Amino acid sequence: MDSGIRVRVPAKINLALMVGRQRSDQYHELATLFQAVSLYDDITASSSSDGITCEVLGAEAHKIGVGDDNLAVRAAKLLQEIYGITEGVHLVIDKRIPVAGGMAGGSADAAGALLACARFWELRIPVNELMELGAQLGADVPFPLMGGCAVGLGRGESLTPALCRGVFHWVLAFSTSHLSTPEVFRRFDEITAPHSIPAIPQVSQELMMALISGDLDRVGELLLNDLSQASCSLLPELHTTLRAGREAGCLGAIISGSGPTIAFLTKSESAAADLGVTLSSLGIARDIRLVTGPVGGAHFLED
Ligand code: C5P
Repeated sequence: MDSGIRVRVPAKINLALMVGRQRSDQYHELATLFQAVSLYDDITASSSSDGITCEVLGAEAHKIGVGDDNLAVRAAKLLQEIYGITEGVHLVIDKRIPVAGGMAGGSADAAGALLACARFWELRIPVNELMELGAQLGADVPFPLMGGCAVGLGRGESLTPALCRGVFHWVLAFSTSHLSTPEVFRRFDEITAPHSIPAIPQVSQELMMALISGDLDRVGELLLNDLSQASCSLLPELHTTLRAGREAGCLGAIISGSGPTIAFLTKSESAAADLGVTLSSLGIARDIRLVTGPVGGAHFLED
């Protein structure tokens, strides 16, 4: 039986998300520091007699379309078009990364589909070329192929690997609510004084130095997301979750991307477990997960 090509692909957290002015293509100029974490979606590519088909597994599967609205399907179509492939593929997405959670789950699936389909169709495409193709699908698609830590400029797609020392123990709080990325950026524009928005934003050197030296306390202090205020004003419950984690003694807390997932940095595995129990007992999140970072990018799972 054809068990297919299986790829495991990580979610990301933004340790910094600095927002600049809106560009002529309506996107905001960004400077962000990504870290890939040990929360994964698995993508399987196997034979299909009916073109490109897709199936999603997991608790949030009902929230995801399986047609052209699915970025993994678009990734497979892009490869078909560029390489003149006529054979179909069946994609199975085993979803664990929260849907619309600010952790680039849809982009991770597209990255996984690129890698899985390239091998399934026996296309020998180097990862850096897959990353370039990924950038055509969305700004967050290249990073899950790279993994580790990286600075992203432009819309976040122009990546430079960042040195990072140590193991980061994160507690993730998934929200029951939903935030729309365009709405968060719109609110950011409404509430931010234009003169305080830089044309070209930058990730602070202090944060990069703290990352290199593995100074987790300092990293915790320097976590910064320019979209926080906008996300919190649209979803005030985020204030409560952030406060609860800070009061329970995390090193730092940050909304990932445009939210609503919140990531709490802790000093050790046991501190993460303690914080997870505290947050769970308060019942303020849909789900609590303990993850570590940085982890490698998308990779094959061999049977
Ligand atoms: O990246 P994605 O296409 O999901 O972004 C959705 C919307 O969020 C964009 O159409 C835009 O309104 C807003 N956005 C932005 N600047 C970015 C990323 C997203 O204004 N860098």
